[in-house]
Amino acid sequence: MFQARLAEVQRAVDAMLGARLAVRADVPVVHAMRYAVRGGKRLRAFLVMESALLHGIGDMALPAAAAVECLHAYSLVHDDLPAMDDDDLRRGQPTVHVKWDEATAVLAGDALQALAFELCCDASLGPADRRVDLVAALARAAGAEGMVLGQALDIAAETAPEPLGLAEITALQAGKTGALIGFAAGAGAILAGAERGPLAAYAAALGLAFQIADDILDVAGDPARAGKRLGKDRSAGKATFVPLLGLDGARRRARDLVAEAEAALAPYGDKADMLRAAARFAVARDA
Ligand code: IPE
Ligand code: IPE
Ligand code: MG
Ligand code: MG
Ligand code: MG
Repeated sequence: MFQARLAEVQRAVDAMLGARLAVRADVPVVHAMRYAVRGGKRLRAFLVMESALLHGIGDMALPAAAAVECLHAYSLVHDDLPAMDDDDLRRGQPTVHVKWDEATAVLAGDALQALAFELCCDASLGPADRRVDLVAALARAAGAEGMVLGQALDIAAETAPEPLGLAEITALQAGKTGALIGFAAGAGAILAGAERGPLAAYAAALGLAFQIADDILDVAGDPARAGKRLGKDRSAGKATFVPLLGLDGARRRARDLVAEAEAALAPYGDKADMLRAAARFAVARDA
């Protein structure tokens, strides 16, 4: 059931982004944007759609789901640049700067970020004050107190004189991965004018579990399935839970966090079963 629903969200998001980026297809940067948003599990979009459903909102939330995937795609394009993680493979394809060039990758990322905010302003998302709240929440999640902060800490950790401790790595990961996942899981509440309530605790645990799973994949994943280069974090000096807790310890921590995320959803009863399944998927995935 979870896989079918995820596939449904993937199709809907792909159709919306395809339509948005169909114009100016002759311009390389637009072509690069279309390329960059293709593929991907669409887990963040799924969280938007499911948190919306939990608040009685259906397909109307789709522009917000597409928005978070644009923001996420931008973060990946920039994350892969030589100045950051210097990766040549993403979602099973050459990275944008390899396929085009660095300037195109920088600009495609910039424009995807702008498109994310434009999508959050879409009139179909409802009353203007709710859309303003959505834009503000995405800005906070994306910026210097959220994803960008986490990415900056991630890069700084590569050359830190001492390895980071548990609290520092937790803070780093809460920014680089957790902030956007937190936005996605809270988007439905914002659109409904409701409090995020238990979704905040759910997203915090899920975000951390998701990044620990990513770090485990880097060490123990199957390169044929991952769609990106593995085995790079250690040599790059990345601060992850894996060296700190060991592989088994990291797996245990991820499992505990999934249980925590599921438990946080108790007030919603079985209405939140899809979100529970998403938490289990976040650590069981192979890509
Ligand atoms: C990869 O995110 C980068 C991290 C934050 C760990 P995903 O694993 O969600 O990437 P896609 O969107 O499915 O390609
Ligand atoms: C990327 O984390 C997080 C963001 C893009 C914000 P990673 O650098 O670990 O992601 P991968 O492993 O390249 O997908
Ligand atoms: Mg990185
Ligand atoms: Mg990376
Ligand atoms: Mg990684």
